[in-house]
Amino acid sequence: MSGTARKLGDWQNVLVEVEDRIAWVTLNRPGKRNAMSPGLNNDMVEALDAVELDKDAGVLVLTGAGESFTAGMDLREYFRALDHLPYIEQVHGRRSAWQWQWRMLSAYSKPTIAMVNGWCFGGGFTPLVGCDLAIAAEEAQFGLSEINWGIIPGGNVTRSVVQTMRHRDAMYYIMTGKTFDGKKAAEMGLVNQAVPLAKLRETTKELALELLGKNPAVLNAAKQAVRSTQGMSWELSDEYLMAKSHQSRFLDTEGGRAKGLKQFLDEKSFRPGLGAYKRDE
Ligand code: COA
Repeated sequence: MSGTARKLGDWQNVLVEVEDRIAWVTLNRPGKRNAMSPGLNNDMVEALDAVELDKDAGVLVLTGAGESFTAGMDLREYFRALDHLPYIEQVHGRRSAWQWQWRMLSAYSKPTIAMVNGWCFGGGFTPLVGCDLAIAAEEAQFGLSEINWGIIPGGNVTRSVVQTMRHRDAMYYIMTGKTFDGKKAAEMGLVNQAVPLAKLRETTKELALELLGKNPAVLNAAKQAVRSTQGMSWELSDEYLMAKSHQSRFLDTEGGRAKGLKQFLDEKSFRPGLGAYKRDE
């Protein structure tokens, strides 16, 4: 059964609605194809903070209004407007972009899903990869269009692409600036799955509900471990994961591990291989 949507906050460029414990965060400049302007980036820093602190929101879904996910960084309000400012002001002007698109999303305490509903260009790849999981409409169009207008994919777009796509694919799309659709994005590993646009929200909701059925403290530790162990030696990674595992037991106030063991070994009421243990209501 579906609950009622509750609007969270009041931002000019971002809409946040919480329904059934899912926070739907919508980049909301459809007339500008949700290009990420300083105003939108500032709003997103606040919106991500608000969702993180909202007790009812258990999963965050990032999407875009209208026919776009996002057309990337706003070329007028960043590149043209900032180009003539002193360096320090340029750095300051870009800070909120980096802040939410990578720093906040990649370390977010709740699971995040990018729901790519349409155009996704350039700077849009950073929050796309910053989200833990991604589902795209088959019809969505992606592009590393920077080369087409004479810049390299900065803002850690290159790094995001290299982390998710295969080497040859990353090179090809960075060097040609050609577009590709949601199906191709899934085939290359940039998104988890592509579905027809008509099924996009329903499929994303199913995934969000699945995540809501897991232990939130352990889910947070698990996803942070995936990101943090990249680049560690095997020895360090083994130590880190052991420490993280102990930490998550300490932080897990519902005692999931003990419950899981009891329900499987003693009560025989579930099988860990086939689903999650029963959490208290
Ligand atoms: N920055 C600033 N404004 C943008 C923008 C961006 N990244 N993307 C779109 N817009 C604006 C357009 O300037 C236009 O504004 P206007 O109505 O005031 O003239 C409006 O959004 C609609 O764009 P338009 O190009 O007419 O829409 P479209 O549906 O025909 O094409 C795109 C959509 C996404 C293919 C096209 O807008 C585009 O190529 N955008 C740039 C994408 C890009 O290279 N981004 C990477 C940045 S690193």
